[in-house]
Amino acid sequence: MFSTTQKIGILGGGQLGKMLCLAAADWDLKTYVLDASPDYPAGQVCTGFTAGDFNKYDDVLAFGLDKDILTIEIEHVNTEALRELERLGKTVHPAPRALDIIKDKGLQKEFYLQHDIPTARHELFGNEKQLKKAIESGKWSLPLVQKLCTAGYDGRGVAILRTAEDLERKLMPGVCIAEELAPIRTELAVVAARNAAGDVSVFPPVEMDFHPEANLVEFLLCPARVSPLVAAEAEALAEKVIRTFDICGLLAVEMFLTTDGQLLVNEVAPRPHNSGHHTIDSAPTSQFQQHLRAICNFPLGPTVQQMPAVMINLLGEPGHKGPVYYEGVEACLALEGVYIHLYGKALTSPFRKMGHATVTAATAEEAIQKAQFVKNTLKVKATNN
Ligand SMILES: Nc1ncnc2c1ncn2[C@@H]1O[C@H](COP(=O)(O)OP(=O)(O)OP(=O)(O)O)[C@@H](O)[C@H]1O
Ligand SMILES: [Mg+2]
Repeated sequence: MFSTTQKIGILGGGQLGKMLCLAAADWDLKTYVLDASPDYPAGQVCTGFTAGDFNKYDDVLAFGLDKDILTIEIEHVNTEALRELERLGKTVHPAPRALDIIKDKGLQKEFYLQHDIPTARHELFGNEKQLKKAIESGKWSLPLVQKLCTAGYDGRGVAILRTAEDLERKLMPGVCIAEELAPIRTELAVVAARNAAGDVSVFPPVEMDFHPEANLVEFLLCPARVSPLVAAEAEALAEKVIRTFDICGLLAVEMFLTTDGQLLVNEVAPRPHNSGHHTIDSAPTSQFQQHLRAICNFPLGPTVQQMPAVMINLLGEPGHKGPVYYEGVEACLALEGVYIHLYGKALTSPFRKMGHATVTAATAEEAIQKAQFVKNTLKVKATNN
């Protein structure tokens, strides 16, 4: 029975939570959000907001008690409380046990090894000094990638160490893994979805290009410029990964296509993901609606890419910090196939994700060109600069 009285609780009130609430509203599904402040993006559009800390056991437990389904928009949440809520009969997606593995990059990499999922070779170190010793003794050699096991996101907690000087300057303190530097031809992401009935559906692979300074995805293209064979392999790999994690909901699988044509899983995110934003404006089902379909155990929606799309993040302009305003919106709206999404954050700071724009066109080249115009024209600035 389709019931709109079910309460969906979302841990995290950022832009992903906001877009999830907006998708839920289409079907009159009721959304409740837990985060520090109702001023956050999701606070403006959810049915109900609870101020609290999604990392605290008591806050998550209390929040979940009167909800029917619990889900997340960020993986760094208190999973002990989610486990307790599961024991109390609540539906919790994604499963807390999968979250515990994904939250820790060391455990995540072990999981890939155990389940025969291709990934770059790695080793776990108790701290950065042990990693340094392993390099000095010749066990590991530069270049390599150091990743902190916990607390990294948006490129923080990842250091690419190429030279002896990098080793002095960039090495981060803490429990970490060393990873072989993959010879990347293209970075890909596949957003997969699975419902409780076990159906799996995947969106076509997207190609990610990174901002060299901010270490954030700056530009994303769907469909990715890879052969149909590689696209099919990437989709099959994403399906294998979501099934192996036994996740209901979305799982974004970030991959490297190497120069010798191999696909390696880099990491996963068990929630809506930056690499699925374009689906709002260019696919029959948005990733947010797909997440709802999956966690509510509805049939999954079609995922065909209707036309080439480029997604760009609208990042806070460097040097600007304070109350936000947007320059050039009108000029971008004058273009056909430009869709602007502003998250509603009151304050901007350098490289903060303040919104995104999706650009569609008949060809990938045209979409890239138009996206370049949007990137050069739409600026996120502070009124006090
Ligand atoms: N083994 C590797 N070889 C080459 N490059 C890598 C490797 N691991 C990570 N990188 C580069 O660093 C980027 C960030 O790494 P990763 O995705 O693991 O970190 P993150 O901080 O969780 O990122 P985000 O939150 O932005 O997805 C990757 O997208 C890739 O460009
Ligand atoms: Mg990543």
